[in-house]
Amino acid sequence: MIDRRQKLIYLLGFMGSGKSSVGCLLAAELGWPFVDLDTTIEAGQGVSIREIFERAGEPFFRKLEQAALVEVSREEPAIVALGGGTFAQKPNFDFIREQGGATIWLDCPLEELWQRCATMDNRPLFQDRESFAKLYGQRLPYYRQAQFRIPTQGRHPQEIVSDILRLKLF
Ligand code: S3P
Repeated sequence: MIDRRQKLIYLLGFMGSGKSSVGCLLAAELGWPFVDLDTTIEAGQGVSIREIFERAGEPFFRKLEQAALVEVSREEPAIVALGGGTFAQKPNFDFIREQGGATIWLDCPLEELWQRCATMDNRPLFQDRESFAKLYGQRLPYYRQAQFRIPTQGRHPQEIVSDILRLKLF
C-alpha cells in the first residue's frame, strides 16, 4: 500500500500527541503541503470542533470527519494530521488501509497526554481522567496497527520530525 501512495503520510495518535505541531514542521522540512483534518472540518463548517460537538453531537462530527478524510486523501504529496479518533473509527481505518499512504503513530504515555491537554480548551472529549483513560485504552488496538511508531514522551517536535525523516519512506 505504501508503494501506491508514496507521498501521502498520515500522523495519528491520541489527543495531545503532537500530530499537528509535528506535521507542520515535517511538511515544512519536506516542502510538502500540510493538512490538519480538524482545521479542514472547521473551515468547511465555519465553526469550531467544540461547537460542532455541542450543536450536533459526536455522530455528526464523525460523519464530517469521514468525508473530510476522503477529501484530503485525494492529493499527494501531503502530510495529514488526523484527529485523535480518526484512525480508531473502523470505516476510516479500512479506508486508509485500502487506498494506501503511510501511517505513523505518535506514541505518548497517558499521563503526559493528560498533562498536555490540560492546558488547552478546544477538546470536547477531554473531560475527566477516567473517560480519558478509557478512550485511550479503546483506541490503542487501532493505533498499534499503524505502520510506524514513534515514541514521543518528553520529546520536542523537532526530534520527532528527525526520527520520521529517518524512516524508510523518503
Ligand atoms: C478527537 C480529537 C480531536 C478532534 C475531536 C475528536 C478525538 O483532535 O478531532 O475533538 O476523538 O479524540 P486532536 O487529537 O487533534 O485533539
